Amino acid sequence: MKKILVIHGPNLGLLGEREPGVYGKVTLAQINTALKKIAQKRKVVIAIKQSNHEGKIIDLITKGKNRYAGLLINPAAYTHTSVAIRDAIAASGIPTVEVHLSNIYAREEFRQKSLISPVAKAAILGFGPRSYTLGLEALIDLI
Ligand code: DQA
Repeated sequence: MKKILVIHGPNLGLLGEREPGVYGKVTLAQINTALKKIAQKRKVVIAIKQSNHEGKIIDLITKGKNRYAGLLINPAAYTHTSVAIRDAIAASGIPTVEVHLSNIYAREEFRQKSLISPVAKAAILGFGPRSYTLGLEALIDLI
């Protein structure tokens, strides 16, 4: 069975209580349950990680090089700042789908640039938790 790595970036462990007006009330655990259901149905294996640390995220991607057929990632705030995560994705060659709960292009100016999108196959954003489930389905179709 194909393996997919799911990475949730910084502060996403707080979903449900964090700025519910922006990110909604669905928790990360609920999102992960929905992702696991899809994985089961589509017969892929998923490994789900959350980290608040840039270096940890880079290590997960780098070590995942020959292990995972796809990467689903919400880089959260690192989307806008991390050349290092972008480079790790590019170096890994893992087909990557970037997801965001919110539409980053409709928010503050500093969020309106993704350093990750140019090295991702695609990005899905603005659908709340559905961005993740749509992203996973699309990634499975892709790999
Ligand atoms: C986010 C958008 C980012 O700008 C923000 O820093 C996040 C979450 C989203 O999913 O909408 O933490 O990636």
